[in-house]
Amino acid sequence: MNREILNQAVEEIRKQVPALGRTVYGKPLVYLDNAATAQKPQSVLDRVHQMNAGVNGNVHRAVHRLSEETTLWYEEARDAVKDLIGAAERAEVIFTSGTTAAINTVAYAWSSRFLKAGDVVLVSQAEHHSNIVPWQLACERAGATLRVLPVDESGQWRMDLLPQLLDERVRMVAVSHISNVLGLVNPIQEMIRQAHAVGACVLIDGAQGIVHGQVDVQALDCDFYVFSGHKLYAETGTGILYGKRRWLEAMPPFLGGGDMVDTVTFEKTTYAPLPLKFEAGTGNFIGAASLAPAIAFARSLTTPTLEENQQEIIQYLNEELRRIEGLQIYGEGPNKIPLFSFSVAGCNHGDIATLLDKLGIAVRSGLMCCEPLISSFGHTGLVRASFAPYNTLAEAEALVQGLHRVVRMLR
Ligand SMILES: Cc1ncc(COP(=O)(O)O)c(C=O)c1O
Repeated sequence: MNREILNQAVEEIRKQVPALGRTVYGKPLVYLDNAATAQKPQSVLDRVHQMNAGVNGNVHRAVHRLSEETTLWYEEARDAVKDLIGAAERAEVIFTSGTTAAINTVAYAWSSRFLKAGDVVLVSQAEHHSNIVPWQLACERAGATLRVLPVDESGQWRMDLLPQLLDERVRMVAVSHISNVLGLVNPIQEMIRQAHAVGACVLIDGAQGIVHGQVDVQALDCDFYVFSGHKLYAETGTGILYGKRRWLEAMPPFLGGGDMVDTVTFEKTTYAPLPLKFEAGTGNFIGAASLAPAIAFARSLTTPTLEENQQEIIQYLNEELRRIEGLQIYGEGPNKIPLFSFSVAGCNHGDIATLLDKLGIAVRSGLMCCEPLISSFGHTGLVRASFAPYNTLAEAEALVQGLHRVVRMLR
């Protein structure tokens, strides 16, 4: 497609996202830290403002009009999530404060019932800390073991090792759909199939996966799928725990409190039906409601034009980053999303990011909450540029030019 048409399509989207129009140190912002958090469209900002300014009744609590309106918007967002991920029913969609909270909920509640001494939890070498530490805690409580599926030198899962690693002692496989460091779409469908064949349960960390491509939890047949709202253009402090009803029914609650109960006496408490059983206390109901406009926005980004623009960015960076002497990319393959983590010989990752920032270019540096993976590469940190569909090819070019300049300064 003609570059002019691609640029126009991206510009139309950019107009809807106010933060993209700001400057940093007098330079136009080039925001390439979307894997950390995405910028929000006006529709999301409006929903949050509208609810704070004119509604703000506590969800599910009262008969008054304000509480009723909040509840309508909150539950409408649940429907939007259900449709987005293809859940069988809305009761399987639980609001949390983010991916981390969702994984901790499963790691605590599921494990307390289903993880026993001698059992194994399998994670990959490329997991975010939030999909490692909760399982370490669960294993410690249960007397179970954490086992690790390695990645190869290009960052792909070593699926060839599964016959050795996936035996009937494995009760849970907790893996990411897309790594936040490597930017590779993992073969989760095949992993789920093989895990189920040995009777293991599967949790997919979809923090990055939900943003890049369609997710159908029923087709995948995963037992849990979790993600954060703020990476999907919604308000911060929001997230989703999707779980199959049979697991959610069988698990004890994680947090106890208001809204998650049926009846309470000092002798015994019975719990509310799903999904409220896992939504104790006053959650971020305004943020959760912003998931509806955020999902509408995310859907509007899945056009062939914007997809082509992203593919061109991937191709451009694959070629141009390598021209920088001493630059090494981590995570390679045809299953790459526009997310590039790299090291540059002789340059500190933090220095690169700091100098790029002075040029108005926002990238991430450091361990990216993936210390085991990055340490295995022999680094104390990497630089990461992560793109959203609202990023332009010109921004990728600005990154490459900026890197040439910064690397010259640092050497
Ligand atoms: C793959 C992955 N998992 C989990 C998380 C944690 O998400 P949150 O901090 O929103 O809970 C992130 C955030 O960067 C991530 O990229």
